[in-house]
Amino acid sequence: MAMRNSILFLAGIGVLIFLSGPQARAFHLDEYAPRVPQDQLEDIQENESPFESSAAHIEAGRKVYFGNGMCVSCHLQDGKGQFMPGHAPRNFTDPQWQDIRTDGELMWVLRNGSPGTGMPRRVGIIITEEEGWNVIHFIRTFRAQ
Ligand code: HEC
Repeated sequence: MAMRNSILFLAGIGVLIFLSGPQARAFHLDEYAPRVPQDQLEDIQENESPFESSAAHIEAGRKVYFGNGMCVSCHLQDGKGQFMPGHAPRNFTDPQWQDIRTDGELMWVLRNGSPGTGMPRRVGIIITEEEGWNVIHFIRTFRAQ
């Protein structure tokens, strides 16, 4: 009996360790929770694109998404994102997510990546600042009505 209890006890610990993995990164599990650290959030949210959302800038952004930015490899052609264990790439068609995030926040993610997830740094690494703002204008076009 004592043996059986200690096996159950060990199994319980195993389950707790398993659960504590994702929970330790709970900040990222809610897709609507801000990715920008709280102490920078207000400032970052106000950063606006210096480029207007014109047909030319959207088209330039589309080229980044499917080309040198390599966004399509994870975010897919329809912007819904391919399945990944842990942190799935965002569903860009989700109107709720589109409404919650400002362009400034998206630029922060392009500059810093989303720490603790598969979202890599892009601006300053493989795309320029201007390409970053353009691809943000393009991402906005995935929004479902
Ligand atoms: C290697 C895979 C990968 C590539 C390449 C990639 N992403 Fe991501 N992206 C992710 C993942 C995973 C997430 C979800 C991160 C999270 O939950 O915080 C994400 C999240 C995002 C978000 C949402 C952030 C938020 O605030 O909710 C944006 C915007 C984004 N990516 C844009 C891009 C753009 C633009 C490119 C190309 C320049 C790109 N990504 C390339 C994997 C990738």
